[in-house]
Amino acid sequence: MRVPLLDLSEQYRVLAEPIRAQLDEVLASQSFILGPKVAAFEEAIRNYCAAPNAIGVSSGTDALLAILMALEIGPGDAIITSAYSFFATAGCIARVGATPVFVDIDPETYNISPAALERYLAESCHRREDGSLCEPRGKKVRAIVPVHLFGLCCEMDAIHRISERFQLDVIEDAAQAIGAEYPFGGATGKAGAMGEAGYFSFYPSKNLGAAGDAGMVICRDDALAQRLRICREHGMEPRYYHHFIGGNFRLDEMQAAILAVKLPFLDRWSAARRGVADFYREEFKRLGLTHQLSLPAEPYRDRRLTNHHIYHQYVIRTPRRDALREHLTRKEIGTAIYYPLGLHEQTCFASLGYRAGDFPETERAARETLALPMYPELSRDAQRYVAEAIAEFFT
Ligand SMILES: Cc1ncc(COP(=O)(O)O)c(C=O)c1O
Repeated sequence: MRVPLLDLSEQYRVLAEPIRAQLDEVLASQSFILGPKVAAFEEAIRNYCAAPNAIGVSSGTDALLAILMALEIGPGDAIITSAYSFFATAGCIARVGATPVFVDIDPETYNISPAALERYLAESCHRREDGSLCEPRGKKVRAIVPVHLFGLCCEMDAIHRISERFQLDVIEDAAQAIGAEYPFGGATGKAGAMGEAGYFSFYPSKNLGAAGDAGMVICRDDALAQRLRICREHGMEPRYYHHFIGGNFRLDEMQAAILAVKLPFLDRWSAARRGVADFYREEFKRLGLTHQLSLPAEPYRDRRLTNHHIYHQYVIRTPRRDALREHLTRKEIGTAIYYPLGLHEQTCFASLGYRAGDFPETERAARETLALPMYPELSRDAQRYVAEAIAEFFT
């Protein structure tokens, strides 16, 4: 049996008709950029996330770039984020001239460790006379970018307490976590809507995927939202008058139209993904594999949330990861490693001066984690085949 890591064909088969009808409308209108479809999709995301503002942009990467530019973050500033994320999180910080500062992860959730974050801020940073917080190289710490990795929210209560103590903005990287919820201050917090700003990626493989690149920023503050709207068009307002330097971060009508067709299905798909995760767990138990494998943590499972986890990825860990992966490849089972290196180990960040061993949990996760096939339509037969192939490896 061949089991791919991800298969989007069934999703498209079900939605082909309404998607094609939408694309026909866009083609008939000949309005391709920032038109009514983008406005309607922004409105839909505002409602879905209960966020005051939503600004459609060209990708998740451009969303973070636009947020950093709109907040005037640049040279002399430092932004704290997780050492274990997709490159874009740190790449954008560096691209605006700011310094990425990494913090280790919690080994259970793979998300930034609030304890490590607080320790870093309390022990390695100091306050200048003007009240600003400085990291050891003298850069001004401006914000924290927690990354809700694999579809599970970071511990936002703790992160907010820390951000308030140290007076830092929180920019949520919710690229992998649209719809994920967190029991925030006793209520339900939605990924992306718990900080000053947050952003999503609609890269095709995401839980809500476009037919190309697309992204979205959500934020509370209306003035920031207005700056972001201007920023996505080269800082231009009115036409051909540029107050500050932005970029071409515009979302196009075709992507917005497709995403608007898909959004009403998102919660159903996330529930189906949780069903897949539950069945993997049952199978691993049945096959006696729970001692060899660490399964994904579900810290908010019993907190009466609709989406305590959205399982963008289903990630297991074992010290024998590489051999297991080879075995599964021979069995025609798709797997992936997210990510083989911590961000602090990337060659392009060598000048930041980090060393191997600086973030032991990130480095261990990079050696031990493996993503298994995960998508809403994954059949129980295919899952049984994956679980049995893993059991065969360990026996
Ligand atoms: C954690 C994280 N941040 C940022 C991004 C960037 O999003 P995009 O690929 O849409 O630019 C991604 C996308 O894969 C991501 O997974």
